[in-house]
Amino acid sequence: MKIAIGCDHAAIELKKAIMAHLDEQGVEYQNLGTDGDPCDYPDMAEAVAGKITSGECELGILLCGTGIGMSMAANKIKGIRAACCSDCFSTRYTRLHNDANILCMGERVIGKGLALELVDIFLSTGFEGGRHQRRVDKITALEEKES
Ligand code: RB5
Repeated sequence: MKIAIGCDHAAIELKKAIMAHLDEQGVEYQNLGTDGDPCDYPDMAEAVAGKITSGECELGILLCGTGIGMSMAANKIKGIRAACCSDCFSTRYTRLHNDANILCMGERVIGKGLALELVDIFLSTGFEGGRHQRRVDKITALEEKES
């Protein structure tokens, strides 16, 4: 599995911790920045989302101060289901039931230990399908209707 990861200037330290964690686990990832320069979170959201919609990466991680701006921006992109999470239950169920393909978190919201746990849950939980597939299909239909 290959992961796309990106952040804005408010979450560089959290991204470093997550990349070190992925390295330890041998998970392959592509870092889309930023690694220092201040930037606008929608640009990073677009870069990470693009890796997923192109099929280059399976799942993504987007980090900013709150995780909220990243999720708002990423969810504007067709095919993206980004979930802003700060607890284990929501992180597990957004994979099981929503087939979320990007996990968003806020460095100013959660601690490093919890963030790493959420990453592990997100990457190791699969979509349940079944009745949830119908509902995810309806999200896709909404995208079509609105475009
Ligand atoms: C940047 O200061 C901050 O607004 C951004 O990281 C994020 O929290 C937006 O949702």
